[in-house]
Amino acid sequence: MHISLLPISLLVARALADGAAIVAAMTTIGNATVKLNSTVSSFPDNPLLDLLDVGGLLTDSISLLNDINAATHIAQASANLTLLEAISLAQSTISLASMVESTLTNIVNSKPKFDKLVVVSPVILLNLKSEKSATDSFGAAVVAKVPAALQATAQNLLAPIDDAFNSAIATYGEFAL
Ligand SMILES: *[C@@H]1O[C@H](CO)[C@@H](O)[C@H](O)[C@H]1NC(C)=O
Ligand SMILES: *[C@@H]1O[C@H](CO)[C@@H](O)[C@H](O)[C@H]1NC(C)=O
Ligand SMILES: *[C@@H]1O[C@H](CO)[C@@H](O)[C@H](O)[C@H]1NC(C)=O
Repeated sequence: MHISLLPISLLVARALADGAAIVAAMTTIGNATVKLNSTVSSFPDNPLLDLLDVGGLLTDSISLLNDINAATHIAQASANLTLLEAISLAQSTISLASMVESTLTNIVNSKPKFDKLVVVSPVILLNLKSEKSATDSFGAAVVAKVPAALQATAQNLLAPIDDAFNSAIATYGEFAL
């Protein structure tokens, strides 16, 4: 009896750790999002090309992209999540979605600043597309681990993130050559 219980308790422990690992990865993404957002906010509103500012923007975008890709690997390697883990993940998703939406709104509102430096907006468009695609992969990897009965709900929680990306990409895409 004890012997047959052991693997089950190990499985449960592993599942709990996996859920926590995904939540931690989402916190990392949230932090990277806030950092990018603040770099966008402090981007100078003058037409002189400042390589340091452009560099900061790129560094933050790339580090966000890396964090999202790392989170996807964590989710893919995860065991199926328990109901409790899925609920805790839902809370993290709602909070991350609001950070992402707010940051994308800021990026859209800041477009006039970036348009003054001809090279910047097309680069932002490319980054937005990479980030959306990475986010979609991450979302799909997480949804696949959520209990089947909650998968549709999980998709619904992710939908606003996708909408916000699509709208930001449309705004930047209008001016693409
Ligand atoms: C995220 O940021 C918060 C607040 O600045 C910090 O306490 C936390 O350690 C950071 N977490 C990660 C995973 O970077
Ligand atoms: C992003 O920046 C804008 C403008 O500075 C601010 O209003 C908003 O609260 C910020 N959002 C996040 C998630 O940091
Ligand atoms: C994980 O859940 C999926 C359904 O979402 C199911 O198809 C798969 O068999 C489950 N895997 C394990 C190891 O239980």
